[in-house]
Amino acid sequence: VKTRTIALLGCGTVGRGLVELIERNRSLIAERSGVDLRISKILVRDLAKERGGVDRSLLTVCPEEAVANGADVVVEVIGGLDPARRLVEDALDAGKHVVTANKALLADCGPELFRRAAERRVRIGFEASVGGGIPVVRALSSGLAGNRIERICGILNGTCNYILTRMAEEGLSFESALSEAQAKGFAEADPALDIDGTDAGHKLQILAGLAFGRSLGRGSVRVEGIRALDREDFEAAAYLGFVIRHLAVGRDLGGALDLRVHPALLPKDHPLAHIRHENNAILLKGDAVGEMVFHGRGAGGAPTASAVLSDIIDLARHGTGPALRIPDSEPAEPADPESERYFRFPVIDAPGVIGLIATALGNHRISISHASATLVSGKADQGSVRILAHACRASVARKAVDEIARLPVLTGRPVALSIESND
Ligand code: NAP
Ligand code: HSE
Repeated sequence: VKTRTIALLGCGTVGRGLVELIERNRSLIAERSGVDLRISKILVRDLAKERGGVDRSLLTVCPEEAVANGADVVVEVIGGLDPARRLVEDALDAGKHVVTANKALLADCGPELFRRAAERRVRIGFEASVGGGIPVVRALSSGLAGNRIERICGILNGTCNYILTRMAEEGLSFESALSEAQAKGFAEADPALDIDGTDAGHKLQILAGLAFGRSLGRGSVRVEGIRALDREDFEAAAYLGFVIRHLAVGRDLGGALDLRVHPALLPKDHPLAHIRHENNAILLKGDAVGEMVFHGRGAGGAPTASAVLSDIIDLARHGTGPALRIPDSEPAEPADPESERYFRFPVIDAPGVIGLIATALGNHRISISHASATLVSGKADQGSVRILAHACRASVARKAVDEIARLPVLTGRPVALSIESND
């Protein structure tokens, strides 16, 4: 059995999960892979913080001290760009393998870091950056390596999925559901990254880079969050036979890439419709293998530690981790996808208000398949018009919504969701 030492940068939800998992499964790991894993130092911000189960003598606030002591692998689970980027670069420059769960960092400067690692002949493991405990990075980079990947459709943010499940099934308010997700350790240090869709966008950028082998810079994914959703949207969705999920869609359309993250209506028999709470799921379609769905816990200390540990063990065994293709092509043009759509327009109770909205949609050649309205006399803030529309382009729907949003009968921002079928 060979000993491998780990410098752990960060000891929050994921870092502590890793410390506990290594402790719990130490002999199993040694038996299976012939490596005895030892944590040499743990970098934190606050030495006084309570951290049950963590050997306090390992803690330090000094990055240099954390990475010294001849660590074989540096595990970065601090999050964010600063100081994470500098610490990862320093570790690579010192000839250390790096394992990170930091999708924000990889989305921001992944190609530069992978190039640097290649120059130093070391590796970066990033299984934990997408899908929590689901081994989807490894599946794409090795198990499905012989396939042309045509489509990714996923639920990639555990916090959003948790909030949507709790709002729809228990009638919780957005704020209460978010507080629960934060208390359970699912949310980012800044939860705006979750609820505004940025985190899922980072993850889609990483997955799509692997799947499609294209150059994907910052801003390559169109991103929308879940803040605008209201109890009424959940009721309307249920009434119409749908559930609302925060989806990440990636499609290779040849010349263009369709990369987007947004809330969507899914028919109840869609393969991702039953994914609840912090679970994630990724549906991949390969030209040889057909459709596969990976499903499991997408956030939380233990599942994420499981993914981090898989990279550490791979590096200890073979000195390899999954590879991110370094892009060499021009970014593809963004696509303008067509789908059926759901709209909700919050309006005052005024004569002709439904007609105004229907006419505006008609002017953009958006054809209505179902409409309902609740207009409450004397209660200006409680009315709404809900519409299902036949398929139209995203750009057309956006223009129509922007135009309707300016009508004086509107009392708030309209909600527009695409309906995603599984074809
Ligand atoms: P967290 O609970 O906020 O923990 C962050 C850790 O980093 C803390 O121990 C903190 O120290 C330390 N830290 C922060 N800034 C530091 C600085 N300037 N210098 C030294 N130490 C610093 O975060 P987390 O939830 O574990 O997430 C860590 C990473 O994993 C993030 O990139 C996140 O996106 C990713 N991730 C998280 C999950 C999840 O479910 N939570 C899942 C997948 C990926 P103190 O403890 O002293 O404050
Ligand atoms: N905040 C992230 C989420 C953590 O909720 O999905 C897992 O990456």
